[in-house]
Amino acid sequence: MGIVVAIDGPAGSGKGTITKLVAERLGLINIDTGAMYRCVTLDCLNKNINPDELEKIAEVLKNIDIQLKKEGSNQITLLNGKDVTKEIRTEIVDENVAKYAAIKEVRDKVTPIQQKMGENANIIMEGRDIGTVVFPNADVKIFLECSLEERARRRYKQNIEKGFNTPYEEILKSLIERHKLETERTIAPFVKAEDAILLDSTNLSIEEETEEVIKIIREELNKKGKSI
Ligand code: DC
Repeated sequence: MGIVVAIDGPAGSGKGTITKLVAERLGLINIDTGAMYRCVTLDCLNKNINPDELEKIAEVLKNIDIQLKKEGSNQITLLNGKDVTKEIRTEIVDENVAKYAAIKEVRDKVTPIQQKMGENANIIMEGRDIGTVVFPNADVKIFLECSLEERARRRYKQNIEKGFNTPYEEILKSLIERHKLETERTIAPFVKAEDAILLDSTNLSIEEETEEVIKIIREELNKKGKSI
């Protein structure tokens, strides 16, 4: 087992950006687990399968092939051999993913794949249940917090950069709905692991948040007599 750094945090907490930067600086393999739930969602949406059609979802899961690959410094996501890196970030997937991610069958399929990815590599894995379910024995666990308004503001800015013009109020509403589904689901709810270190990023720049995460990782590994 290599070094495992678990980063859990809500949408818009900067987790994706920070994890990528930390991975580059510390030489860790970066794994975005949300991309996997997004792939399942996209596959179901493309096949017109609703979240309550469990038999059909089971069929999708039987045949699904999700691959996270590195291309330069970016992660690309392949769904059944097709590059869906951009498609899994569209609004329709954003709006629906929390419903599919709450399904037991979906998590039972995806979680072991994630655990396997950490078997022989030094990784930094980001998601919602990494420190609680996927790697409860991770070397370092960080739980990112960020105010709702700041998360909505960041999403709004990101969307503008991507060319989507979603009103701020709509983003706020969608973040509230997703957060409710993610924290209240019965399987692997989004909660802080007891032993995770809390980092509030509301007033931190990307650079400051990255530095802070690196500091925590170094300190925690040091306590365990490990280093990277
Ligand atoms: O981090 P993200 O916004 O790309 O995550 C997409 C969705 O997947 C989100 O609704 C939460 C869910 N998710 C999850 O349930 N467990 C994870 N480990 C990662 C993401």
